[in-house]
Amino acid sequence: MTDCKALPEIIRSVAALRSRVRDWRAAGKMVGVVPTMGALHDGHLSLTRTAKLDCERVIVTIFVNPRQFTNPEDLAKYPRHEAADVALLSGAGVDVVFVPPVEEVYPPGCSTSVVVASLSEPLEGVMRPGHFEGVATVVTKLFGMTMADRAYFGRKDWQQLQVVRKLARDLDLPVHVVGCETIREADGLAMSSRNARLNPEERALAPMLHEAMRAAVSALHRGAPAEETLAICKVRLEAAGFTQIDYIALRDAETLAEGTDPTRPRRLLAAAWLGGVRLIDNLPA
Ligand code: PAJ
Repeated sequence: MTDCKALPEIIRSVAALRSRVRDWRAAGKMVGVVPTMGALHDGHLSLTRTAKLDCERVIVTIFVNPRQFTNPEDLAKYPRHEAADVALLSGAGVDVVFVPPVEEVYPPGCSTSVVVASLSEPLEGVMRPGHFEGVATVVTKLFGMTMADRAYFGRKDWQQLQVVRKLARDLDLPVHVVGCETIREADGLAMSSRNARLNPEERALAPMLHEAMRAAVSALHRGAPAEETLAICKVRLEAAGFTQIDYIALRDAETLAEGTDPTRPRRLLAAAWLGGVRLIDNLPA
């Protein structure tokens, strides 16, 4: 006899979700949540697998959060494939898929938001002002709605992971935030729902981002100076055909501050465009 159901239950209201989770908690079950915006791929599924290893009950949330989009066109274009997503989650040991409508998450008059100062400002924060305020707000709400003990996020979105860890700590939320490894295609490209928007030539070039970053990390480990190494990485990407490099930065892995203390873990983070598609990646450095 196993607790694992083949078909997850689909819940759309906070009240129904709370009632389900209350029953689980009353039975002493450990609850995990995997927040997503849908358009699921193997990267998302690896989070659910990790959650399932740790937790007796797993909730996957699918909500395309309007507050974290800085561009209305991006929001409108964001892929929505609920039926395919649920089919993908079937048999993955997921107990509940929470798919709230926008009014359930942001009822009229909802005016509170969560700002994680300083961590939200550099890198993605420069390129997408207000993005992390939207992420921090929805994640805080999802933690409250799901009452999960553990929450699973990908290292693929490194800055987001640090923002979520910080808000949980700063607001004393009783949730343990777990960072999960980046899942890549065989050629090294980090999986992302945006990859489907690359044309065949762009798709062939895309793994170069990871490759150039790996080469930069090797050079840093051999003692090459940081500034020169980042400049070489940028030139390589431009020569390969990346149309714009938003940033290639070496930062403190936790605070994302510049001028990292060599005794603390560092992270190499990059964002670059291939035509109309923006790719991000990061590696320990
Ligand atoms: P989304 O882009 O759908 O990603 C959901 C989760 O999957 C995030 O934690 C992300 O880091 C993780 N993920 C995506 N690609 C991955 C990969 N290749 N390997 C490992 N993990 C990967 O991130 C969001 O949604 C939203 O901002 C959200 C946190 C749900 C708030 O709206």
